[in-house]
Amino acid sequence: MDFSSLLIKWYKENKRDLPWRNTTDPYKIWLSEIILQQTRVDQGLNYYLKFIENFPTIIDLANSKEEKVLKLWQGLGYYSRARNLHFTAKYIQKNYNGTFPVNYKEILALKGVGEYTAAAISSFSFNMSYPVVDGNVYRVLARFFDINTPIDSTLGKKEFKALAEELIDKKNPAEYNQAIMEFGALQCKPKQPNCENCIFNSKCLALKNDNISILPIKEKK
Ligand code: ADE
Repeated sequence: MDFSSLLIKWYKENKRDLPWRNTTDPYKIWLSEIILQQTRVDQGLNYYLKFIENFPTIIDLANSKEEKVLKLWQGLGYYSRARNLHFTAKYIQKNYNGTFPVNYKEILALKGVGEYTAAAISSFSFNMSYPVVDGNVYRVLARFFDINTPIDSTLGKKEFKALAEELIDKKNPAEYNQAIMEFGALQCKPKQPNCENCIFNSKCLALKNDNISILPIKEKK
């Protein structure tokens, strides 16, 4: 089996049951990804549930007062995320009749949505073949292929993006994207990953070359 098939097999056997994984509603996917941009899953989960309860649809969010959105956001920090969330809900209500745009470029153009979040929404909601490249993905790829290009350099970003585009399972981009992030979060952890018990331990080049602990490399500390 190749990298992507093994990863998806691992994911099916090991994934956490998270509410945003049981939906393709772009509003819910978007909301979860904005919350998870700077927040860990265990903390973000309750906020996600609270937001969905208060605002079941993007129209409910758009029609809410900003103060209520900020109040619900309390404790998560980075309040620009909450302001952008409210702004974008209103923007989609006004410009798209309340229906989330389906086009990658239009999703990327939304306030508060960068390349990572646009790829997450496009793949998880619409099964489009855009690879997510977050910290988990950088770590998994840097280690499996033993790549020492700094992930925060212009060249590194380009190289990892190109590799991610090659590897994504084009028949199953949503599941592949969830799988590689989950693998980074649960198995290929930043510190002391459990390489003895890993599906890739006979294939992982960084493990072979004893580079696990130094990868991925960052230019700026
Ligand atoms: N972190 C960011 N997006 C995530 C997702 N969809 N599932 C789990 N963790 C995440």
